[in-house]
Amino acid sequence: MIDLTPARNTLDPIEIASRDEISALQLERMKWSLRHAYDKVPHYKKAFDKAGVHPDDLKSLEDLAKFPFTVKQDLRDNYPFGMFAVPRADIARVHASSGTTGQPTVVGYTSRDLDTWATVVARSLRASGLKHGDLLHNAYGYGLFTGGLGIHSGAEKLGVSLVPVSGGMTPRQVRLIEDFQADGITVTPSYMLSILDEYRQQGYDPRKSPLKVGIFGAEPWTNAMRLEVEDAFDMHAVDIYGLSEVMGPGVANECVETKDGLHIWEDHFYPEIVDPETGKPLPDGELGELVFTSLTKEAFPIIRYRTRDLTRLLPGTARSMRRMEKVTGRSDDMIILRGVNVFPTQIEEQLLTVTTLAPHFQIELTTKGRLDHMIVHVEAASPTASEKAREASARQLAGHIKSIVGITTEVRVAKPGQVARSEGKAVRVVDKRPKT
Ligand code: DLL
Repeated sequence: MIDLTPARNTLDPIEIASRDEISALQLERMKWSLRHAYDKVPHYKKAFDKAGVHPDDLKSLEDLAKFPFTVKQDLRDNYPFGMFAVPRADIARVHASSGTTGQPTVVGYTSRDLDTWATVVARSLRASGLKHGDLLHNAYGYGLFTGGLGIHSGAEKLGVSLVPVSGGMTPRQVRLIEDFQADGITVTPSYMLSILDEYRQQGYDPRKSPLKVGIFGAEPWTNAMRLEVEDAFDMHAVDIYGLSEVMGPGVANECVETKDGLHIWEDHFYPEIVDPETGKPLPDGELGELVFTSLTKEAFPIIRYRTRDLTRLLPGTARSMRRMEKVTGRSDDMIILRGVNVFPTQIEEQLLTVTTLAPHFQIELTTKGRLDHMIVHVEAASPTASEKAREASARQLAGHIKSIVGITTEVRVAKPGQVARSEGKAVRVVDKRPKT
């Protein structure tokens, strides 16, 4: 793989500023953001008053812990525009979550917010190894989802040639990557696997693809998956993180030269880790729920937003800003199987150790008798694998899951192409247990 480390003099000065400079900027911006939210958004005024705190009470960054959390339900209760801090006419764009599990959550941006977003995405793409003159194939979905348009503006800001493909029509994805000689691809890791299948289907050697880097996010994925995809395409794979409520993609990104977790662009997004049960802030290094406070957003300031994502904060390496470890999963996605907590990423890790199986998987939860039962649907890597061979692979995977994760599962190995594919975020868990 070629070295894609960006030249130091191309970085934003704040990326390599001292911690003291970063903290001073954060404190100044946090005071502004709390005041802005309190003055302009009735929800925040009410919530702060109820908690007995006022923006003037913030004297240090640690004082943030006195302020109340914001949760998804607050956004739903204020649907559609109740959390906006500027008049509707000053909103340049809205995005929204899909709302498949309830009311959609709507977020808004002023034109200055859009510029900030483009800046952090440009920074993320540069950290991933892209530079002016490269061609980027953007296969994140366009529309209300922040992935497509978020990457789009950042790519334009960085000055790369952008191909706004969006998700879907997989044969065409492969053709365009090859015909246009894409240097980079932005896509969910699960959809990248479908693109990989399609490469093989069309008789292309993925290792000879022009791609130098894949920038994967919007869903959890493991370091085992990184190695799998890097090896398959002979390219770098880096992690990009973000969420609509905080901005969209580009809240944090891995640096291609270290690939050791995601640097959070802390000059715009202030992270905390809290105990998911008690909400108590935890020191850096401890695993807990990630909470964000926006420092510069005008249209949609967000104060102590509970992301539900589980990770830990680590000191900076390639940049001065702190890193977050790869997200293990969302607390909402945690499966409690007969008392044991399991994340789909743990199943992914084990799946990737069985070379006779393809990396696609879906977990089905049912009940057997009165007990929870987990079926892991996977596929044979080879279309010619016999039934006996598939059964052997199933036993191997079930054995690994039992010994490493500690749960008994039923593994069903289908022929290639049988496990449900997604063109965006994969659906990893189908819960068919009766609702109690
Ligand atoms: O998924 C924004 C995004 C688009 C990020 C493209 C990266 C690339 P939402 O649809 O609001 O926004 O979903 C946010 O997705 O709270 C995490 O649970 C999950 N997520 C996002 N990035 C990662 C990642 C976009 N790199 C939710 N690793 C977040 C693990 C991720 N989970």
